Amino acid sequence: MKSTPIKSYLNLTKIINYYLEWLHENNLNNFSEEKKLLKSDLVKVVLGLIWIKKDLTDVKHFQANRYFMDAIGINKLPTIEMFEIFSAKNELKNLPILKENIGINNYENIKNIALIVLDKFNSNLNIILAPETQWGPEKKKYFEDHGYVVIPDVMTSLECSGFREIALNIAQDEKEKKVGFFYGHENKFQRVWNLVNKSLELGQLLTLPIVHQIMNDLFDRDTFHEKYLLSSFHLNILPPEGREQKFHLDSTVPDPLPSWLIKANTSFIIEDHNEDNGALMCLPGSHKFNRKPSPSDEKKYNKNLIKLIAPKGSMIIWSGHLWHKSGNNKTTKERTGLLGAFVASHLAEVAMEENHTLVVDSERSKFFSDDLKRILMFDHGVKQGALAKSNHFWAKKKNN
Ligand SMILES: [Fe+2]
Repeated sequence: MKSTPIKSYLNLTKIINYYLEWLHENNLNNFSEEKKLLKSDLVKVVLGLIWIKKDLTDVKHFQANRYFMDAIGINKLPTIEMFEIFSAKNELKNLPILKENIGINNYENIKNIALIVLDKFNSNLNIILAPETQWGPEKKKYFEDHGYVVIPDVMTSLECSGFREIALNIAQDEKEKKVGFFYGHENKFQRVWNLVNKSLELGQLLTLPIVHQIMNDLFDRDTFHEKYLLSSFHLNILPPEGREQKFHLDSTVPDPLPSWLIKANTSFIIEDHNEDNGALMCLPGSHKFNRKPSPSDEKKYNKNLIKLIAPKGSMIIWSGHLWHKSGNNKTTKERTGLLGAFVASHLAEVAMEENHTLVVDSERSKFFSDDLKRILMFDHGVKQGALAKSNHFWAKKKNN
């Protein structure tokens, strides 16, 4: 197959929808029987299997797994025998869309159609990858070796000022209404949780193409499921002259930590993090220790800590395994930071900080992009009848 294969259930759904539109556009009015066939569940399954690079016999792996069926929008999988009978026929040989690519049977013809559609689908995706100065194999290796990486020029200075103003307005509101979360020394540190529900504009940072590219790369594994989810998105405000934190890590599972990535914390730097205003301090390489730091580690390694100085507009990503703390804010000005915590999707249960289905208002979520819904897990289908109201919720069982 010359085109890049489909690697996720989500993209499988997208290409099936694209295919149905493509059928509609390729006027098949004079070929009504063929058109009916091309829209059949059987053909959708064949196309789906070809696009995810599976053999027809692999259909048996999906018998007890609805993800593939849900992705292509069918309710029942055909049997291998049905495929064999279907494949041997040649009902599409007159279709003009196949042009010179007419095969010897249905299967060959569907395969040709799959390639044509996949090529068009991929060329329409128009994915713009970040330049290597922002993300590429070198940056990934740096992250793997050191446990953190700084990505430059993600936001413009003007955007940063706008984001900072919105974030601080929300924080001020919560402070005035006495509903905010304060912690740390003298209870002066403020954290604003659940930003996705509080600002549509700030929420869009989480789905920037570069963020998606990096997270997909960091959490990559051999699966058709989505690779990562959002654990939380919040604002941190260090008060003027705020004291440094205790040494800690953010992967909250018991020691020993697994060797694979659980969390990738992403700090959107909306104002310079400099020498003096409490920039993040970390021990490079400590993410490979696979354990939490103890108080004695803090003394032992204090001299080896480095300060992650980062200019406004950049993004710092660090592994949830990395030993770190925010430094002393020696200035007389508060220092803000927007933190998006991303988690490996299969570890959501142990690493989710927010339960987004509880804390996000359903009215507001209607305005979310598909990408944002995906990382909040709001894109999972609702089964037929699942939302039907039952009159029997309180009913007691009658004893006969
Ligand atoms: Fe932390």
